[in-house]
Amino acid sequence: MSESPADSVSFTFDGVTYQGRAGMPAGIALYALGIKRLGDNEVDGAPRGLYCLIGQCFECRVLVGGEVRRACLLPLSEGLAFESLRAEPPLRTNPGRPSHD
Ligand code: FES
Repeated sequence: MSESPADSVSFTFDGVTYQGRAGMPAGIALYALGIKRLGDNEVDGAPRGLYCLIGQCFECRVLVGGEVRRACLLPLSEGLAFESLRAEPPLRTNPGRPSHD
């Protein structure tokens, strides 16, 4: 089965435009492009990305219009724009806040 040009869609992740196949899960499309980090762990800042691929672990959380969605279940469509979910740094390492150490 060949892919027709009609299957190709443009989408944006963190402000960068990519091409993907309509209906393909956004997380899979990014992984195929070599993008594996979808956000940060809120506790320790470790990278998060695809893990279970079936919508159970929530490790692939991204923001779509301010709403948290799972990238492994988010179908690509023309013009879809989403962004990584970055954690705020811990207070003691936040350069904008005074240290209480
Ligand atoms: S990879 Fe587990 S919910 Fe998406």
